[in-house]
Amino acid sequence: MNPKTPSESRTIMTDMVLPSETNPLNNLFGGELLARMDRAASIAARRHSRRITVTASVNHVAFNRAVPLGSVVTVEAAVSRAFNTSMEVFIDVWIEDRYTGERTKANEAIYTFVAVDDTGKPTEVPALQPETPLEKERFDAALRRKQLSLVLAKKMKPSDATELKALFKED
Ligand SMILES: CC(C)(COP(=O)(O)OP(=O)(O)OC[C@H]1O[C@@H](n2cnc3c(N)ncnc32)[C@H](O)[C@@H]1OP(=O)(O)O)[C@@H](O)C(=O)NCCC(=O)NCCS
Repeated sequence: MNPKTPSESRTIMTDMVLPSETNPLNNLFGGELLARMDRAASIAARRHSRRITVTASVNHVAFNRAVPLGSVVTVEAAVSRAFNTSMEVFIDVWIEDRYTGERTKANEAIYTFVAVDDTGKPTEVPALQPETPLEKERFDAALRRKQLSLVLAKKMKPSDATELKALFKED
């Protein structure tokens, strides 16, 4: 399988915030944003692998900014690293100013997807070849995040998480 670049999986979804999608403060309900991010990330994982993909874990979500009712929200997802059968997908969320159109980063998240065959068995995916400095930075950190996720899920022994442990080593 030939390696693919993040731009080959990049998925951009733009939509408005409607009243039924808000919390009592009239801001976008967190679960609604999680669903929008999951949808965009799932398409990105499918574009990279050209397989059925399932969400294996949500590794990180930061709700840094409230997203008010009526906002135009853009969810941008791309595969940030591919392993054997799993892919890390990085999601950036932007809102745009009503008058100037200027975009502001509102939130970000990192999901892990696994490519599966018709019976649900994990199946191999192409490698990822990062191109830009940001893509390379996200690619480099992805292995540590995978190890942390596996340790928290009790699927890896902390002693085996060598790249993760290296983060905490003092020189
Ligand atoms: C995700 C799923 C396919 C993994 O199955 P599994 O039996 O654990 O398979 P494996 O142990 O072979 O793991 C497959 C890959 O997933 C990765 N993985 C599994 N759990 C993970 C986790 N919590 N965090 C990060 N990666 C994980 C493994 O590291 C492996 O990656 P690699 O092949 O790239 O090294 C399986 O748990 C599943 O089908 N879950 C339900 C998915 C779903 O329905 N999602 C929607 C929720 S409503």
